[in-house]
Amino acid sequence: MARVHHVFPKWTNLLLPGSIIVLAVAPFYVLLMVTYGFSPRATDVGYQPPQPIPFSHAVHAGRLGLDCRYCHNTVEHAAKAAIPPTETCMNCHTQIKKDSELLKPLFESHETGNPIPWVRVHDLPDYAYFNHSAHVSRGIGCASCHGRIDRMEVVYQQQPLSMGWCLECHRNPEPHLRPLDEITNLAYDPLVELTPQQRRQFRIDNSINPSQDCSTCHR
Ligand code: HEC
Ligand code: HEC
Ligand code: HEC
Ligand code: HEC
Ligand code: HEC
Repeated sequence: MARVHHVFPKWTNLLLPGSIIVLAVAPFYVLLMVTYGFSPRATDVGYQPPQPIPFSHAVHAGRLGLDCRYCHNTVEHAAKAAIPPTETCMNCHTQIKKDSELLKPLFESHETGNPIPWVRVHDLPDYAYFNHSAHVSRGIGCASCHGRIDRMEVVYQQQPLSMGWCLECHRNPEPHLRPLDEITNLAYDPLVELTPQQRRQFRIDNSINPSQDCSTCHR
């Protein structure tokens, strides 16, 4: 009786199913990387596109002390933080610096009714869901995710906005929690102002418990 002659050692039998799995998964993995992984807007800390008007947060939110909500007035109630329309700027600039060269595009926009083409800085991929009001109304301040905007001449992305970054806080939000009336105070540091006990108590009192379910952010 002829016996099957084993030319290769037995363990090599595992190579075939193994390589089938690798070959089957690789294209999807590559597709994910190309489509999302290398997207500079989603991952690049320091992304700082030039804007059509040199609008300075350091001047308006810093030196002049305007509250973020004067311009981003939906941030407490909606998923998106509104970018202010030209008319918000004109509240002041019909009077202030009305001969400024730098403001020409603003006055043009006012006359033509065409919005100013501000360039987006922070931009998650479409498959990730984010909601401002869910954070801002639960004691997470702008500074935790955007840094010291009130010191920026030109806005840049300060945090990675990666999934790992989101989850790090969802697992342990306590170091970031602050009283609701300090949400837009970027100089307020909860780690300095509140004791660990106070932050824990804040979390318990307001039953703050961020979800880590995939469907919270991928819906
Ligand atoms: C006078 C109006 C005004 C005030 C006050 C203001 N902003 Fe803005 N903000 C803008 C405008 C206009 C843009 C779009 C142009 C740009 O990116 O600079 C913007 C852009 C931003 C962006 C980037 C948006 C994107 O495209 O990703 C963030 C984040 C932001 N503001 C946060 C804040 C915070 C935090 C405060 C308060 C400390 C604040 N802003 C105060 C007008 C304002
Ligand atoms: C509450 C009043 C107020 C609002 C609202 C406001 N600004 Fe201003 N802005 C000022 C003042 C005051 C200055 C001058 C600051 C300084 O140099 O002392 C200024 C300066 C500027 C300058 C510099 C002009 C120059 O020639 O130096 C630009 C550009 C500008 N603002 C754009 C905007 C835009 C765009 C908006 C709307 C998103 C806006 N501002 C909203 C008060 C305002
Ligand atoms: C928990 C993190 C977090 C907090 C807190 C937060 N933001 Fe954002 N912000 C983001 C992310 C993430 C994006 C990008 C959202 C997207 O692409 O869908 C963003 C985008 C923005 C934008 C662009 C418009 C938009 O909604 O996409 C503005 C303006 C802005 N934030 C202002 C603010 C202001 C003002 C505050 C405080 C009152 C604030 N943010 C608090 C994470 C945060
Ligand atoms: C600094 C802390 C912090 C960071 C960073 C953060 N979150 Fe949250 N998130 C919270 C807290 C706190 C809540 C509210 C939990 C509660 O209400 O019990 C929350 C709630 C949410 C919710 C629930 C909204 C709803 O409909 O109930 C979503 C969605 C969410 N976060 C998405 C994100 C995404 C996406 C990112 C990253 C881009 C992110 N979060 C980053 C702290 C954070
Ligand atoms: C708190 C919000 C949040 C939760 C919960 C969450 N994700 Fe994500 N996820 C994100 C964000 C934001 C991105 C985009 C990251 C980027 O652009 O760099 C992302 C990206 C991804 C990607 C794309 C590849 C990558 O790593 O960038 C996959 C796959 C993914 N998530 C799967 C999951 C699965 C599976 C779960 C549940 C176990 C989950 N996510 C839970 C926020 C979340």
